[in-house]
Amino acid sequence: MFSRYRDDLESEFDATVPLMPAAGEVRGLYSMLRYHMGWADAQGSDVDSPSSQGKALRPTLCLFACEALGDKWRRGLPAAAALELVHNFSLIHDDIQDGDVERRHQPAVWSVWGQPQALVAGNAMRSLADLAALRLTRRGVSPEKAVGASLLLTNGYLEMTMGQCSDLAFEGRLDIGLDDYLQMVSRKTGALIRCGMEMGALIASDDPEEVRAFSRCGSRLGRAFQIRDDILGIWGDQGATGKSVGNDIRRKKKSFPVVYALSVAPDPARDRLREAYSRETLDDECVQDVLGLLDELNVAKYAERMTREQADLALKEVDSVSMPGWAREEIRLLTEFLAARQY
Ligand code: IPE
Ligand code: IPE
Ligand code: MG
Ligand code: MG
Repeated sequence: MFSRYRDDLESEFDATVPLMPAAGEVRGLYSMLRYHMGWADAQGSDVDSPSSQGKALRPTLCLFACEALGDKWRRGLPAAAALELVHNFSLIHDDIQDGDVERRHQPAVWSVWGQPQALVAGNAMRSLADLAALRLTRRGVSPEKAVGASLLLTNGYLEMTMGQCSDLAFEGRLDIGLDDYLQMVSRKTGALIRCGMEMGALIASDDPEEVRAFSRCGSRLGRAFQIRDDILGIWGDQGATGKSVGNDIRRKKKSFPVVYALSVAPDPARDRLREAYSRETLDDECVQDVLGLLDELNVAKYAERMTREQADLALKEVDSVSMPGWAREEIRLLTEFLAARQY
């Protein structure tokens, strides 16, 4: 699924992200964007660095939804490219918000150029995303559907921003339950993943029920994806994820394992956890303590079960949608990958 769309997606990016202007400080702006996308090094020279290019999950889902519903998937390319650019805008800002210095096996944009310039880069990336979506009519998508897709995209990133707001606010709170957590991740991560499925379905299908089914499937996938991300943020291998491991605990993030432990842990363990999370900052010893408690409580197992549960529910959402056998098999394999991924 991923490899089928890659070359066309790259050509769509080339059409959207302008080549660097010859001179002046604006050249630096495009250097940051191209660096973040894994197309240039920090000095602005062209490189092709696959480990810094991301998985392209959201655009892949968008093009898959188009194809599974019988449409010529290339019509969805502008929406797919737009979504990936929005995702990358969210990552540039997210690393500032989370204080993470590494992204995709290289220093994050802000740790190379500083926070003010990284904010500018994120904003430019979002504007390019909006421009990318406007190319839909050139591919033969009707103006009504193109506006519908743009609406989904803008609402999607507004919702993502709300999720980021909750994620940051939760750092300072101890009273986060599983429902709060699920609502927060459905926004910060689920919105763009859902958007991929929904935009693709909207472009391909005139049946609102099909579009809704793909949308619900995307929401479930988003939850599974983030719970897996939370697992990798604590127990993952930095060599595989290419981003800091352990920082979620240091930042007092209310990631799934921590929320689960805070809400179900038996008394002495919960008190110790609450005590650790009540401190102003968590030093290395404290982080080790928290890791020990999470192990004692076998939280990783429960988080894995929850990931699988959400992935299975995602598949069920499209059970009643008519699609060819190859597409049903591909979406099944994709949910398998998302539930077990190491990167
Ligand atoms: C990372 O998303 C941010 C989350 C929503 C968890 P991805 O894991 O899809 O990031 P890339 O694009 O592949 O690096
Ligand atoms: C994911 O945030 C959501 C967005 C980036 C909008 P996280 O902070 O959980 O993701 P990583 O682990 O840094 O990629
Ligand atoms: Mg982050
Ligand atoms: Mg974050």
